[in-house]
Amino acid sequence: MKAVVYEKYGPPEVLKIKEVEKPTPKDDEVLIKNYSTTVHVGDTRMRGFRVPKKHWLLMRLFLGITKPKRQILGMEVSGVIESVGKNVKDFKKGDAVFALTGFGGGGYAEYSSVPAINGDEKKGMVVSKPSNISFEEAAAVPAGALTALLHIQKVDVQKGKKILIYGASGSVGTYAVQIAKYYGGEVTGVCSTSNLELVKSIGAEKVIDYTKKDFTKNGEVYDIVFDAVFKISKSKCKNILKENGIFDSSHAKIPEPKTKDLIFIKELIEKNKLKPVIDRTYKMEQIVEGHRYVDKGHKKGNVVVKI
Ligand SMILES: NC(=O)c1ccc[n+]([C@@H]2O[C@H](COP(=O)([O-])OP(=O)(O)OC[C@H]3O[C@@H](n4cnc5c(N)ncnc54)[C@H](OP(=O)(O)O)[C@@H]3O)[C@@H](O)[C@H]2O)c1
Repeated sequence: MKAVVYEKYGPPEVLKIKEVEKPTPKDDEVLIKNYSTTVHVGDTRMRGFRVPKKHWLLMRLFLGITKPKRQILGMEVSGVIESVGKNVKDFKKGDAVFALTGFGGGGYAEYSSVPAINGDEKKGMVVSKPSNISFEEAAAVPAGALTALLHIQKVDVQKGKKILIYGASGSVGTYAVQIAKYYGGEVTGVCSTSNLELVKSIGAEKVIDYTKKDFTKNGEVYDIVFDAVFKISKSKCKNILKENGIFDSSHAKIPEPKTKDLIFIKELIEKNKLKPVIDRTYKMEQIVEGHRYVDKGHKKGNVVVKI
């Protein structure tokens, strides 16, 4: 099968399309014929080995000391089940699905073998595709939406709570705005000028343009500040947090996502409470271009790759 392979760490040009062996699903796995995947910010960081200093050694051990151990990136996919392992009960050939493949990757390929024993979070993050969105949109859901959901649940957004979401226009940000709104939060989104309309259109009551105003000096106080892009600190926000107010960031710890969380997200999408924001779509052959774009750090929502 065709796959995008990176045999060394480096700039987008290290990504090459190659013929590799098609995976064979193990007993607990399904083989997905991938229709779409994404250029996730995590893919670009692994490719370039750009990791925070404190995680350097751990990540190098996980990813590979001198060269990548797992050479196919792609943390999320959508597609159709091609075959199932003998322990898999929830899926059959032909089912349309979306899945989190996670840091193990494997999505930048015509086929991915993915654990699919639902109910066991260690063994399966494959869920049937929401019926009201395309395969391209579905591929852009698992990583960003799960991250946003688990953070918004962790900070306990409830009806009437005021939440400021910093970096509201990225993948995590666009999902966080919609999910906070779903739980009844009064959302203020911080983004740059060209994203103000987008952030309003997905449910933010108020928006602040970080290129024109200091969001800590608008006279408002919040129950929660969520930094979706890991650009600000709790100390910067001390004057805008209510007493006992909560600061959280997309790099802070959250529980391991479970299959039930992805099912919940699918249901939110089907109830039209959540919609993936797609910035650009690239063909597999344009993967280098896609990585160059995401490397700039200004994508709006998500960048999709059609396989
Ligand atoms: N996506 C995930 O599944 C996931 C999971 C866990 C952790 N994280 C972490 O969460 C962070 C965000 O991930 P992401 O995938 O959402 O990133 P992303 O989509 O690449 O974020 C891009 C967005 O960030 C905004 N941005 C850039 N600089 C900004 C600034 N100084 N102030 C405010 N907004 C700014 C950009 O808007 P402008 O063009 O307006 O600047 C753009 O819309 C990353 O550090 C990532 O490691 C992500």
